[in-house]
Amino acid sequence: MGQNSSQAGRMTAPVLVIVVGGGCRGEIYSQYASIHPQRMKVVAVADPRKFARSKLQKQHKIEEENVFEDWQAVVERDKFADAVLICTPDRLHKEPAVAFAKKGYHVLLEKPMATTAEDCTAIVEACIQSGVMLSVGHVLRYDPVIHKIKELIDAGVIGDVIHIQHLEPVGFYHFAHSFVRGNWRNEAESSFALLAKSCHDIDLIHHWAGGRRCVKVSSFGSVSHFNKENKPAGAADRCLNCSVEKDCPYSACKIYLDSVKKGHTGWPVSVICPNSLPDIESVTEALKTGPYGRCVYECDNDVCSNQVVNMEFEGGVTAAFSMVAFTEEICKRKTTIHGSKGELSYNGHEIHVFNFLTQKSTKHTADYNTPRQFGMSGHGGADYCLIHAFISAVANNDPSLIRSGPEETLQSHLLVFEAERSRLESRVLHCGDTKQS
Ligand SMILES: NC(=O)c1ccc[n+]([C@@H]2O[C@H](COP(=O)([O-])OP(=O)(O)OC[C@H]3O[C@@H](n4cnc5c(N)ncnc54)[C@H](O)[C@@H]3O)[C@@H](O)[C@H]2O)c1
Repeated sequence: MGQNSSQAGRMTAPVLVIVVGGGCRGEIYSQYASIHPQRMKVVAVADPRKFARSKLQKQHKIEEENVFEDWQAVVERDKFADAVLICTPDRLHKEPAVAFAKKGYHVLLEKPMATTAEDCTAIVEACIQSGVMLSVGHVLRYDPVIHKIKELIDAGVIGDVIHIQHLEPVGFYHFAHSFVRGNWRNEAESSFALLAKSCHDIDLIHHWAGGRRCVKVSSFGSVSHFNKENKPAGAADRCLNCSVEKDCPYSACKIYLDSVKKGHTGWPVSVICPNSLPDIESVTEALKTGPYGRCVYECDNDVCSNQVVNMEFEGGVTAAFSMVAFTEEICKRKTTIHGSKGELSYNGHEIHVFNFLTQKSTKHTADYNTPRQFGMSGHGGADYCLIHAFISAVANNDPSLIRSGPEETLQSHLLVFEAERSRLESRVLHCGDTKQS
């Protein structure tokens, strides 16, 4: 396919995409092609795991010559699609993003953009220099009710934004799954928790603060509870043969085996059998031999389980963010935004605005007109809205449809790196100041 085919007749021809990394996220975004074959077609997949690439090949009838074991083999070919969906692990974002951008592909890149500030900047520069669109996987920007918060702020319903308080409840078993046993447990292998988990949240706070520059930031946090010191007496190294597992809320038997026995094979069970579909046999085997069967007090985890970030933006707007593992809710953010004329609160479901003048409260919700298939991600309809916006932007050559574009996303990522630096250096940072105190 030639370079110009993305413009001519685009309103009728589907956008051709390559999926790099056919795991959870790659598969979720690819579903858009099954729902809207007239809008998007998956023409190639790259993944070193045979199970993952074969699954996508079958789902999207991808030609054998377009199934790759590695992204590098794709980029060596002449350009043959319009866009690439980069859904590889955190440490494998920068190289493919820069290479595909240079080749002229529009890029949907999973968050975090990359694991260093320099790499994030390099990605944005490559996309700008190549004239390609970049959309980062900040799905919350596309959640209709969260988007409504910004619309209400912009409409002036709470006057000037003065202070933002925002909580990310990760969820006790979600944290154990992803950040103690799983892919994001260890900074050297993936990234620090604030980047891996909360770059969405810092991005939202920055967005709600009107995109103002953050001038000062401080942060504290640590790995609590999930360490050897808290291992209960008599506990084994694996839950399958642990005599005290019944009294442990983090037991892998409860999280995975009991779930699959009840017929639940979606997330998080789906993640633990990388080379097959989950069933009682494969899940038992995964708990016997794989990382997800380990005692949560005997893992190689080092990422924070609780972290706070305080920020001061230009003009004196302040924000306080908390991320915590030990919650009932899974990722249902809670937010209060205090303005000069009212207070806006979001409980993870709906928005309430209290007007100081009338002393009345109004409720706001949003329509989720998204196909059911996209419910599987846990982000409600936001994954659908993100890929829909990206594909529409490419189809219409209109980057304004992307809410998580290069400049603002880079600013919020840089703020995450500053916050983490503050935590590590135990001091308030004046943003942009590289001096050691
Ligand atoms: N937007 C969100 O809310 C959100 C949610 C979860 C994960 N993520 C991010 O999405 C990315 C992918 O996460 P996931 O949960 O899909 O992980 P995953 O492990 O399920 O998928 C990653 C895939 O990349 C493949 N891969 C590894 N090396 C490769 C290479 N050289 N070439 C091509 N493919 C390669 C792996 O085999 C795997 O199938 C991560 O960066 C993660 O942090 C974003």
